[in-house]
Amino acid sequence: MASMFGPLPRTVRLLDAGAGAGALTLAFVSRCCEKRDGVRAIEATLYELDGEILEALAATMRECERRCCGAGIRFTFTIHSADFIQEMSSRLAGDLFGTMPPAFDAAIANPPYRKISTDSVERRALRSVGVETSNLYTGFIALIQRLLVPGGQLVGITPRSFCNGPYFRPFREDFLSQLELRRLHLFESRKAAFRDDSVLQENIIFHAVKGRHQPRETIVSSSSGERGGDITETVFPFAEIVHPHDAEKFIHIPATAGHASAKETMDGLSSSLTSLGVTVSTGRVVDFRLKDALRKEPERGTVPLLYPCHFNGGTVHWPKLEGRKPNAILDNAETRPWLVPSGMYLLTKRFTSKEERRRLVACMFDPDQVKTEWVGFENHLNYFHANGHGLERHIAIGLYAFLNSTVVDQYFRRFSGHTQVNATDLRTLTYPDRDTLQAMGHEMTTLDLTQDEIDQLVTKHLHARR
Ligand SMILES: C[S@@+](CC[C@H](N)C(=O)[O-])C[C@H]1O[C@@H](n2cnc3c(N)ncnc32)[C@H](O)[C@@H]1O
Repeated sequence: MASMFGPLPRTVRLLDAGAGAGALTLAFVSRCCEKRDGVRAIEATLYELDGEILEALAATMRECERRCCGAGIRFTFTIHSADFIQEMSSRLAGDLFGTMPPAFDAAIANPPYRKISTDSVERRALRSVGVETSNLYTGFIALIQRLLVPGGQLVGITPRSFCNGPYFRPFREDFLSQLELRRLHLFESRKAAFRDDSVLQENIIFHAVKGRHQPRETIVSSSSGERGGDITETVFPFAEIVHPHDAEKFIHIPATAGHASAKETMDGLSSSLTSLGVTVSTGRVVDFRLKDALRKEPERGTVPLLYPCHFNGGTVHWPKLEGRKPNAILDNAETRPWLVPSGMYLLTKRFTSKEERRRLVACMFDPDQVKTEWVGFENHLNYFHANGHGLERHIAIGLYAFLNSTVVDQYFRRFSGHTQVNATDLRTLTYPDRDTLQAMGHEMTTLDLTQDEIDQLVTKHLHARR
């Protein structure tokens, strides 16, 4: 949790609400001492209600002092043996005359979880500052959020129930309007979840920054929850985490378990596109530069011009006269340099919409289906070719299966939160060797397979090669 903080100011006013024995503050201090990224002073404020743990808390704070002293960081702390909810609600509501609420640059929190009924003192206190929530943990987070300075950071571990529980909607609205969600961390194994009130809770860690503009992308990481386990990271567009028009403001937590195994599979592949004798390029026809040569309908002297709108499952649907895009381009001395000779080409979309199931959408241009000598590929497409010519049929079909597989999609999502797939991204991928691609191509007698069928075929051949 401590490692999730971004850059911190020279003097950090740190809040640890529900501090227990102070483990989180100690982790934060250790991070600053180890990282040496400019933090010169830490002023820690700790709230803890349980009198029996205060001694242990004080001892941990002395350990923090010792570590900071060794690292040249000034460490001061104040332990409040008080109810965080009552005290902060009063201070934020201005009930305590003359005492302004404190301000913090960073907060690290593992708040208590407990349902709070509508007429409880906690509920009333929270209501006085405009927080309507049914659990103590969301009450803690809502108050902590109010105490952060703009740009202040919060790393919290809580149950994940707030992400989609219907009762947490007001909390989510409050949270997402004031905090920018930068990262979510999940635990893959339920066994590693914490126990509270004898209920097995699934927990989540989040890193959020006080501010009103959600990031374009959110990092979703996961680990087994065991000490020292690997952490897998994937970047997702924020719009995939919280859908822009969702009135419920659900926080969708994508499954990431597959990403780790996708990486393992891809790491096991040894061929590059170059070693396969294949190249991927961006479609050469930039339509606005060749405006005069474009035709809505094919006519004498034109050749097919393909756009992403011509993708139709595994193959192209051409011409598409009902669409808005041109279907043809004149074949003449001016346009010929931008055309390619007919052949088997594998096409991918450069931009996919968020609604599309996969990031990478590949489709086949088969010369048996669209009869022509030359063809134009528009700039919103990438095309796989062999030195400017079509590919061998079975290699092309093998590549089609591979690129449309879930393994490649998940691998892609690991490092690309964009819905854009550039030729460079495709060039740097690892690929199955020629024999495997060919074997896949031979087995695939139709391109019209379901996702499951494609995955089964690809997995079978990749495993057979091991
Ligand atoms: C889940 S524990 C976390 C302890 C510690 N932060 C950690 O991570 O090891 C929550 C702590 O909050 C304390 N707590 C519960 N209600 C509180 C309140 N209203 N004000 C302050 N502390 C409270 C509990 O005594 C407990 O130590």
